[in-house]
Amino acid sequence: MSAATDVPWWRSSVVYQLYLKSFLDSDGDGVGDLDGVVGRLDHIASLGVDGLWLNPCYPSPDRDGGYDVADYLDISAAYGGLPAFERLRDAAHERGLKLLMDLVPNHCSDQHPWFQQALTAGPGSPERKRFHFADGRGPDGAEPPNNWQSVFGGPAWDRVADGQWYLHLFDSSQPDLNWDHPEVPAMFDDVLATWFERGVDGFRIDVAHGMVKAPGLPDAAPGDALNHHAWNQPGVHEIFRRWRRVAESYDRQLTLIGEAWVSPEHAAEYVRRDELCQVFYFDLTAQPFDAAAFRASVDSGLSALAPVGGSATWTLNNHDVHRSVSRYGLVEHDPVTATDPFAQVMRPRGRVDVALGTRRATAALLFVLALPGAVYLYQGEELGLPEVQDLPEGVRQDPTWERSGHTDHGRDGSRVPLPWRSDEPAFGFSSGTPWLPQPDWFADLAVDREEADPGSVLHRYRTALRARRDVDQDAPLSWLETGRSDVLAFRRGDLVCVTVFDGPAYDVPADWGAPVLSSDPMVTGSSLPAGTSGWFRG
Ligand code: GLC
Repeated sequence: MSAATDVPWWRSSVVYQLYLKSFLDSDGDGVGDLDGVVGRLDHIASLGVDGLWLNPCYPSPDRDGGYDVADYLDISAAYGGLPAFERLRDAAHERGLKLLMDLVPNHCSDQHPWFQQALTAGPGSPERKRFHFADGRGPDGAEPPNNWQSVFGGPAWDRVADGQWYLHLFDSSQPDLNWDHPEVPAMFDDVLATWFERGVDGFRIDVAHGMVKAPGLPDAAPGDALNHHAWNQPGVHEIFRRWRRVAESYDRQLTLIGEAWVSPEHAAEYVRRDELCQVFYFDLTAQPFDAAAFRASVDSGLSALAPVGGSATWTLNNHDVHRSVSRYGLVEHDPVTATDPFAQVMRPRGRVDVALGTRRATAALLFVLALPGAVYLYQGEELGLPEVQDLPEGVRQDPTWERSGHTDHGRDGSRVPLPWRSDEPAFGFSSGTPWLPQPDWFADLAVDREEADPGSVLHRYRTALRARRDVDQDAPLSWLETGRSDVLAFRRGDLVCVTVFDGPAYDVPADWGAPVLSSDPMVTGSSLPAGTSGWFRG
């Protein structure tokens, strides 16, 4: 907790990311919903988190997990509509939990009225100017207007019946909005205000680094796999300044947290005093379980943020990357087939030693929980779920799978519905057929089994989050000399966090304090084996 009462809650809060479709289904249609969350809110509250972030739950054809929004001001009937949203909001607030929504401003659904109007209105119309429509290249305009590629694979352009093309950095069902058109920012001002007035405590901003494109949409330079013309353009910052003014016009502390896959130095620019409040620090999800890599990543994140006074927002898991148990437990890599540079690093495939991965992922959790800043957890992480790598081909839903020509397996494996009860159909997730199949081995990781086992990952998460409440969140980090390259230790106030990444057991010096907790339930003293973090106080 922060000593100074005027420090905003979001600077050091722990937020639980809810992938609604896969949390709990209350009506038997095989898809999780808002009343499912209301019914199990105590599970989330019992972890000791400060808030929830809901992945998009607006009306949507659901071609990309709801990141294809057809109506920004309503809640999908499939999730229970606005009344169910209000029940969740009230139930969350009664428990002292903040509620964050997901804002998707880079693109909408092709079913959004604006895009439908643009299709009907034709080339050159004002309706088309809300998007990036252009004539094609080549004699009959049959080639896309530039060489940009979709993040999900294939060209970033699709052609409509009258011959023009429209830009979509993601799926063809997700046309990019033109942020140079004044109606676009005006519409989103209204979206922000509507939800703030409905009581939400903030937004996670989807693709915050993509909204503005280089003027004229020039070709990506040869060899520029990341396409610098499409991302991190200076114009995005003006949008965030505008939104910060909106957020600060309310008399309660609201947060705006950006999803920006950019370098630590660039990420820091997103949280200048008058821009977004927070930005995810994704660099750590790209690092192997390695002492030097973790230390360098933390140092570059903190040193980039320091000049702007930004607080860090750490995360090890989300719905776009492979779960940390599988990343850290990967002992044999499959040949890389995905061409997306992010997929290659964040979604490695191969044989996983689950025991090793679980051990390391829990150690990594204790490491990030001790760092200065906020932490975002992803549902199922508290059960130690590994990635489900072997989903049958026919059930995969992520558009990445088809668009990449089956070279990138996509993100379904981290989105499989949660197991609640080991002995019930669908592991208690639904009375119907889950939208993605759950593997048999989920039984061992079901909430009921973990509740009954005092050494489970679930209990370790609770214990760690409870202990974090005693950490002085104003205390800076200082590294301690461990004498070993495979062991990291740092101090924050009276807390010392030690992580043994590899090698033999490490005897923690007595003057670093008495053991408070360890990521391995069998370790209670000051000798930490490989793949363990311990907290010490004294
Ligand atoms: C973000 C979301 C991801 C989605 C994409 C397009 O990266 O996290 O799930 O597919 O944006 O909206």
